[in-house]
Amino acid sequence: MQRILIWDIPTRLFHWTLAVSFAVAWLTSESDEWLGVHVFFGYLMLGMVAFRVLWGLVGTHYARFSSFWFGPNDALTYLRQVMKGHAARHIGHNPTGSAAIYLLLLLTVAVGLTGFFTLGTEEQQGAAAGWLSIAQGRTFKKLHEAFAIGMLLLVIGHIAGVVIESVLHKENLARSMVTGTKLAPNGAVSVKPRTLIAVLMLILVGSFGVWWFSYALHAPIEKQFGRPSGSISRASVPFVGTKLPDNAQWREECGSCHIPFYPALLPVRSWARTLAEQDKHFGTDLGLDAGTSVAILAFLTANAAERHLTEAGLKIDRSLAPNAAPLRITETPYWIKKHREIPNATWLAPKVKSKTNCDACHLDAMQGTYEDAAMRLPKP
Ligand code: HEC
Ligand code: HEC
Repeated sequence: MQRILIWDIPTRLFHWTLAVSFAVAWLTSESDEWLGVHVFFGYLMLGMVAFRVLWGLVGTHYARFSSFWFGPNDALTYLRQVMKGHAARHIGHNPTGSAAIYLLLLLTVAVGLTGFFTLGTEEQQGAAAGWLSIAQGRTFKKLHEAFAIGMLLLVIGHIAGVVIESVLHKENLARSMVTGTKLAPNGAVSVKPRTLIAVLMLILVGSFGVWWFSYALHAPIEKQFGRPSGSISRASVPFVGTKLPDNAQWREECGSCHIPFYPALLPVRSWARTLAEQDKHFGTDLGLDAGTSVAILAFLTANAAERHLTEAGLKIDRSLAPNAAPLRITETPYWIKKHREIPNATWLAPKVKSKTNCDACHLDAMQGTYEDAAMRLPKP
């Protein structure tokens, strides 16, 4: 027996980068504040899988798929042998481990792609912003979560497998994924470290990180909302949401006393009522002529909550009883639910003063999108 190199450096880098990325992405998945970090590691994992597939074709001996191309039957047979405590030792990947690797690669792609579409719909950010409807986005979000849970279970299984194998064959497998070496019988294939490829990988990942965290996360969001640069501190993915349909007449007539409330915030029946009862609009008379009323109602109808143009639209539509026609957005169950935890002191802050001053907290209120990423609570 002699100690030889089994895992080249790129394979080890891939392994540990994927492991760390998965852990960080999992830990940052619940909070909007960490979305920028979460998405970075998601893209990194997709990039790593692309590399691994390539390396499985052109990499060194034990990294090649041809060296661990086992079928599901081999995987089950080997698992049974392990459970009985007398499985043959493999210098490269064993059949059960190989199955876990192929499944993990597939699941990573599934998690990454569904995440990409979730980001594009739920958050209206990233390259897929605006590609799909909000309802499709919700399906992708559920799939994203289900695949991620599947991946977690597989990772747990993989770690258990490594521990069991290490005990069974009295060798520390986790350590050999760090050092790359294993004890092998004379004549076993040993591989080259492939240092240059590993350095290239590090340079690529490093540049991606620098670009992401110093540029991609910061530049566009402030410009988009016309706020002074440096005014938005929370790291989030660039907000490139689709522009919603606009109408100059509506903006002028319905935006003179308060911000123009975007049509998607109420259903058609509410807007019809608003215009029908315009002579007693919250204590004022809007006094619109017939032509203007018709034109504004047409725009409000075409983009009302039922059209599901935004996540808020979809949820407000679903939160209302079929014939409820509230005149206030702030009286819809969805709005009340979303704002019930805001402390009184915040409502009384000089910058807010009224619930209807949506613009005080939602940077994108004038655009009508009401995305999480554009919400900032003013200090009381
Ligand atoms: C002359 C001033 C004025 C104009 C013009 C005006 N509104 Fe209002 N609107 C008000 C006032 C006042 C309120 C009550 C604000 C409050 O409670 O803070 C209100 C409230 C609303 C609300 C309820 C907000 C909420 O959820 O509590 C909606 C919806 C609304 N207006 C829609 C419209 C539409 C649509 C138009 C254009 C057709 C329009 N408004 C034009 C004065 C106006
Ligand atoms: C005092 C600040 C404040 C004001 C004013 C305010 N909101 Fe909000 N809004 C919030 C907060 C905080 C949330 C919760 C965000 C979350 O759940 O992550 C929220 C959530 C929302 C959501 C859900 C967004 C999502 O994707 O979770 C919508 C839609 C919304 N607000 C619409 C409005 C509208 C319309 C108005 C004006 C009529 C308004 N808000 C006024 C602070 C405010």
